[in-house]
Amino acid sequence: MFVTASHPSHRDPLRVAIVGTGAIARVSHLPALTALAAGRPLEIVAAVDVDADSVEAFCAEGGIAHPYTDLDRMLAEQRPGLVTLATPPRFHRDQTVAALRAGAWVWCEKPPCPSLADFDAIEAAEGPEGEGPFAAIVFQQRFGSGPQHVRDLLARQALGRPLVAHCQTTWYRDEAYYSAPWRGRWSSEGGGPAMGHGIHQMDLLLDLLGPWSEIRAMAGRLVHDVETEDVSTALVRFESGAMATVVNSVLSPDEVSRIRIDCERATVELTHLYGHRNADWRITPAPGVPSDQAEAWQDFGTDVPSSHQAQLTGLLEDMRAGRRPRSSGADGRKSLELVTALYKAAFTGATVRAGDIGPGDPYYRALHGGATGWAPQPLEHGAEVTA
Ligand SMILES: NC(=O)c1ccc[n+]([C@@H]2O[C@H](COP(=O)([O-])OP(=O)(O)OC[C@H]3O[C@@H](n4cnc5c(N)ncnc54)[C@H](O)[C@@H]3O)[C@@H](O)[C@H]2O)c1
Repeated sequence: MFVTASHPSHRDPLRVAIVGTGAIARVSHLPALTALAAGRPLEIVAAVDVDADSVEAFCAEGGIAHPYTDLDRMLAEQRPGLVTLATPPRFHRDQTVAALRAGAWVWCEKPPCPSLADFDAIEAAEGPEGEGPFAAIVFQQRFGSGPQHVRDLLARQALGRPLVAHCQTTWYRDEAYYSAPWRGRWSSEGGGPAMGHGIHQMDLLLDLLGPWSEIRAMAGRLVHDVETEDVSTALVRFESGAMATVVNSVLSPDEVSRIRIDCERATVELTHLYGHRNADWRITPAPGVPSDQAEAWQDFGTDVPSSHQAQLTGLLEDMRAGRRPRSSGADGRKSLELVTALYKAAFTGATVRAGDIGPGDPYYRALHGGATGWAPQPLEHGAEVTA
């Protein structure tokens, strides 16, 4: 392992900056970093927001010394080792690349960035393997004791082969939610519920079942006056042969997030809304499974709920080791690729295979792929309508 002592990410205490001081920074980033700072050499040195009042209030409440409204200036003056990004998706690519170039590791909120082209630009700005800096995406639902236990059972085939799965993000968002002008638009929200809401469950499904191989899909605008979809359904085949249904909706009054995987020897179910703990998982053995084995499967260990803190704990360990963190690089790209393929399959009616969408494909640069009826309407002078 190769670790550069002079690198900002390897100095003690680790200097952290939070960029974007809105809802998720307040509810999740700041509390997770504050909790972790209690047990290790870590200091939140700065925060950045284009809204000066917001960043000043955030710093005052969090005891953070340096509020900034300019990211580049903060990077140059504070030289953080880790930058957490909690800004809207359209800024994720440029802000991640700026932080990586300044030598900082990055932990960027989902959705990663608006397109696979953007993601590949981020990967290209990362440092060398075994050193970094690297950029990881916030996919906190992969972390915690529940997914770790189930991933382990699946990986060692204790439950037999996975055969059939369901991945459901059925949430409810009303007119007031979509009255914010940036919502429901490709340029500002990045996509509809497949990209903005369902990506967590799809990411977890991929994390549990491994690589997918093909997808067919439908998308609709059934209720809201939006540019993107408000519901999508898909059929996904995995390399293992397992087949899954995927539903992403913001039209569902009885809200639930759910994953169900039927394996040869058991059904695994996760039922929750925005995060899960051990009690949200259920493993039902198939007839004939010895009771001592079925009982052993119920032992999820100490309850570690999925959370920003659960993911960040591992990221900090990886930084110390100079090791690529989970949910970065190819591992962070896979759910964005599945979402992109879902849109292409829905808008073209074609079956899309993993690896199909590369440079030159219209869906590589924009999730709407320029599709008639889905792409933003051109204005008379040719510019796109934006929020
Ligand atoms: N992981 C999760 O479970 C989860 C939950 C909610 C939101 N998110 C994601 O977090 C991100 C932020 O969402 P939010 O709900 O906190 O939004 P928000 O609107 O509450 O906060 C965004 C903040 O970014 C600031 N900002 C905008 N442009 C900026 C720029 N160029 N530079 C610096 N600051 C800028 C805004 O002023 C605002 O304070 C989104 O990508 C969203 O999808 C993730």
